[in-house]
Amino acid sequence: MSRVLLGVTGGIAAYKACELCRLLVKEGHDVVPLVTPAAERFVTAETFRALARRPPGDDVYLHLTRADLLLVAPCTANTLAKLAHGIADNVLTEAALAHRGPTLVAPAMNPRMWSHPATRANAEALRERGVVLVGPDEGETAEGELGVGRMAEPDEILGAARNVLMGTGPLRGKRVLISAGGTREPLDAVRFVGNRSSGRMGIALAAEARRRGAEVTLLAANLAVPAPAGIELVETPTAADLEREALAHAPEADVVVMAAAVADYRPAEALAAKRPKDTAAWTLELEPTTDVLSVLGERRRDGQLLVGFAAETGAAGLERAREKLSRKGADLFVLNDVSRTDIGFDAYENEVTLLTAAAERPVAKAPKEEVAVAILDEVEAMIGNG
Ligand code: CTP
Repeated sequence: MSRVLLGVTGGIAAYKACELCRLLVKEGHDVVPLVTPAAERFVTAETFRALARRPPGDDVYLHLTRADLLLVAPCTANTLAKLAHGIADNVLTEAALAHRGPTLVAPAMNPRMWSHPATRANAEALRERGVVLVGPDEGETAEGELGVGRMAEPDEILGAARNVLMGTGPLRGKRVLISAGGTREPLDAVRFVGNRSSGRMGIALAAEARRRGAEVTLLAANLAVPAPAGIELVETPTAADLEREALAHAPEADVVVMAAAVADYRPAEALAAKRPKDTAAWTLELEPTTDVLSVLGERRRDGQLLVGFAAETGAAGLERAREKLSRKGADLFVLNDVSRTDIGFDAYENEVTLLTAAAERPVAKAPKEEVAVAILDEVEAMIGNG
């Protein structure tokens, strides 16, 4: 999660910044809205406070808030000029001077104002200082003129914000391969042997790794919830698919996280058509699948970090997880108790223990997004020590 200062200035496109604010919050960012007095003619600061889920009451040092990104959308010609010249006459322009870190600006103005040499020079000065500009786009402006001046769409600004944040993330340049969900092993054309994994934990890890700047590939085994944007998604519905894709992608990965519940057995024979019902019993033969994590452990290259999950039930889980950590050749194991309904399989929260050869650390019960933060903090520390 990153902290984003969202500057909103006085243009009609300010209404689109509401959607941008919502999208940033949805991505898990901590958004601090900085709405200028001129913007308040179009939208209220209250709207943004509500969308950003901020508590009421103004912080007197709001402009000194430390943040990972300053994003100004829409940015009027006036604010663009102030940013270029270091004028600090409102909460946003003051924040801009105090901010140390990347700045992203989405200009929005009348096309004649955008093409004026003064505005061109201001935009150029900002670019030279490393400020990233997104848009403006060509099209019809609110006042009915055609030309370049419309604010870029919220989706496009969000994409640019992601890129800027990734470029500064602690996992930038790292490739992270994550498996998520639960495999389904076909019995016939419609039936399968499966498990209750929703994929939420793996998805939370993928989103967090991406937020930290990693290039993420997600091996998706029947996810019950949507995968995050900005990652490579590879569908791996069965254990065989997952095995094939994991072995294909692992050689390039710096970190591999096996969060998927991979079937340990598959029906020895899968019928191509649907098996008609009859009164006799249906006896199945199940054959073992490959233990993907163990194979990855054997083939692991130097410097690659391997993370496994141990789905256990009850008190003996810790001992079994320790044993799996060494048997499967992993560096880190995440133990979670799948006998409880409030955590683990198909739940929103998790409570885990992180096991390495050297230490064991409990992570208190929390939403899976927060547990993902703890797991990746550990991964980062291990990469740093490696
Ligand atoms: N795993 C795997 N391939 C399998 C089964 C499991 O890669 N065929 C991985 C899981 O993704 C997880 C780890 O191994 O990271 C441990 O999974 P778990 O189900 O807890 O262990 P199992 O090896 O299946 O052992 P058991 O079912 O006896 O607990």
